[in-house]
Amino acid sequence: MRKLFALAVFFSFTILSCVDKIDILDSQNSPNLPSQTYDYKSSAVNLRGFATGATVEVFHQTNFNSFENPKVTDEGATLGRVLFYDKNLSLNNAVSCASCHKQEYAFADPVAKSIGFEGRKTIRNSMAVINSGMNDNLFWDSRATSVVDLTLQPVVNHLEMGIENMRALENKLQRLDYYPELFNKAFGSSEVTEARIASAMSQFLCSMTSFNSKYDKGEKENFSNFTELEKLGKKIFFSDRAMCSQCHQGKNFNAPENSSTYGGSVKGTANVGLELVYNDPGKENGNFKIPTLRNIELTAPYMHDGRFNTLDEVLEHYSHNIQPNPDLDKKFRNPNGSVKHLKFDAIEKKALIAFLKTLTDEDYIRDERFSDPFKS
Ligand code: HEC
Ligand code: HEC
Repeated sequence: MRKLFALAVFFSFTILSCVDKIDILDSQNSPNLPSQTYDYKSSAVNLRGFATGATVEVFHQTNFNSFENPKVTDEGATLGRVLFYDKNLSLNNAVSCASCHKQEYAFADPVAKSIGFEGRKTIRNSMAVINSGMNDNLFWDSRATSVVDLTLQPVVNHLEMGIENMRALENKLQRLDYYPELFNKAFGSSEVTEARIASAMSQFLCSMTSFNSKYDKGEKENFSNFTELEKLGKKIFFSDRAMCSQCHQGKNFNAPENSSTYGGSVKGTANVGLELVYNDPGKENGNFKIPTLRNIELTAPYMHDGRFNTLDEVLEHYSHNIQPNPDLDKKFRNPNGSVKHLKFDAIEKKALIAFLKTLTDEDYIRDERFSDPFKS
């Protein structure tokens, strides 16, 4: 009888533990952090687009003391770094943000579709995380308006990290021995809350800035550091004929500032005619976020579905393969309505690619502050 009871207890335990998978910790690894906290504050950018809808509540609950000037602290960003690399943020302790956002690829990854929770593939190509604190339209379909809005989405997204219940995640992190102190340093008490997780992660994302490319250096010295080919590429990029800079613009070579006004209702996105009929409509009708071109050399494959492996293939698309999708951006239409193929020749392509490579920031991919703290 007693044996039977023990067996019953054993089975109900197994069943329960299946249900509460999230309670299983991986406490084997703990982060190695510098004795002197890194400086994140001085390179951090202000959050944009944060004072909308759902994000307001998060800000009320967290350390961000003002909407106009949300505060990135070194301790907050340090906690954010640990969270970004911690596989305990996934249901099966196998996936972290960094599984799909790898520093060596400017926080993108080298595959068309990434592998998330239990080997399931993401629907779209992983995006480079670069200066995203400045961005007010995040994800390929612009569904998030700020990093605060976004940070918890991958965790609850089944394909990515598999966690459904944020309360359970709070409990799980609370039980890992390195978090209480990190939360205490960042927020003044060791309590783990969803809002604090979002805040710390956002602080880390806001400090992940890349402004040290050859192009950035060139801006300060009239591009005397550029080769002739790079100069030619720059001229083409900013020309009315190529139109690249009409969409990839501003400091981040992405959707225009104040992108809500770009393309009417379709915020910060454009349809570049990859398909006649899109299976994935993106924001709507094949409109996808106009992505940053910073570090583009490192973030292949390209486009929302990772269909192109090289920059040459991307330019070949703009040169000859734009499809007459009904919603194709007007810039790619001739006055008579036919598609305006950009028809770059071999030299123009070479020059454009040389120019795009001046947007690579080697410091960004080597910066210790953004590296994996769990690596021994
Ligand atoms: C399984 C892979 C995977 C994981 C894990 C993952 N991401 Fe992503 N990430 C993606 C994909 C794919 C996209 C594009 C999704 C879309 O547009 O629908 C994306 C988009 C983003 C963007 C938007 C960038 C932009 O410029 O719009 C940010 C920021 C980001 N992820 C941060 C994170 C953070 C923080 C975590 C951890 C909490 C995380 N990601 C976990 C795959 C992943
Ligand atoms: C009408 C606006 C528009 C114009 C003009 C434009 N682009 Fe784009 N670009 C986009 C959009 C939108 C995407 C993403 C499309 C998608 O995934 O469906 C994109 C994607 C890209 C990508 C891939 C980015 C990545 O992270 O996968 C590169 C590289 C690129 N464009 C370079 C250029 C160059 C070079 C030019 C000029 C020859 C140019 N673009 C002109 C809007 C534009």
